Amino acid sequence: MKIPNRRNGEEYRNLTFTEDDINKRSYMDFLGGGNAEWDQRGLAQAIFLKKLGLMPENILLDVGCGPGRAGRYLVNYLNKGNYCGIDYNKEFLDIFQNEIVISGLSNKNPSLCVTNIASLNVDICADYVLVFSVLNHCTKDERQDFLSAIPHKMSSNGRMYMTHCGWLNEEYDIGPDLLHTNSITDDNFRVFTCWKANEGLFPIIELRKIDPSRSPEGR
Ligand SMILES: C[S@@+](CC[C@H](N)C(=O)[O-])C[C@H]1O[C@@H](n2cnc3c(N)ncnc32)[C@H](O)[C@@H]1O
Repeated sequence: MKIPNRRNGEEYRNLTFTEDDINKRSYMDFLGGGNAEWDQRGLAQAIFLKKLGLMPENILLDVGCGPGRAGRYLVNYLNKGNYCGIDYNKEFLDIFQNEIVISGLSNKNPSLCVTNIASLNVDICADYVLVFSVLNHCTKDERQDFLSAIPHKMSSNGRMYMTHCGWLNEEYDIGPDLLHTNSITDDNFRVFTCWKANEGLFPIIELRKIDPSRSPEGR
């Protein structure tokens, strides 16, 4: 396993894994909760999105999906072709792809795409966007570039959920196409996901893409 400098914005980019790391699942140690809480934290994300209305027919973009901790539950739940995961670490995506095959989910035809969230080089019109424990690992510029690019990848009325948003303040511009519609800070999350998430996860911010046909200005 090659461990890069753990500087903000670089801690995941250059992680590489040997076959032994993959067989022993040591890559799990790089995500909060590690091996011990892998299933719980993955499942909690899927439960959370379903509770907020995600339906199998919706298109989901899982930003910074990593090795598919939540992705495998989401691929299973969604209709064929409706899951897209992106990450800048190709090795994480290779591990995820392997899990998809092993779990018999290849027929769901998920797309996994290597891209930086700052450039969002992916062709999608997502109804839901999940950004779970990602932006807290990014630089300020990456966060701002992501906020500027993401509306172009969302359907009108599309919703995005970003966790660990303690960094979000007036220094960031969410632009004219997104509306801050909810801040999830209460204990409901912990109750319905059965995961005693620590305070760092909150607030979880909901941003919705404005539907131009419904706004008073007709925008
Ligand atoms: C803490 S992990 C969370 C993984 C996944 N969302 C989950 O909760 O299981 C952060 C993930 O974000 C990815 N990531 C961080 N910065 C990124 C960036 N600028 N562009 C793309 N992916 C990024 C990392 O490679 C890693 O897979």
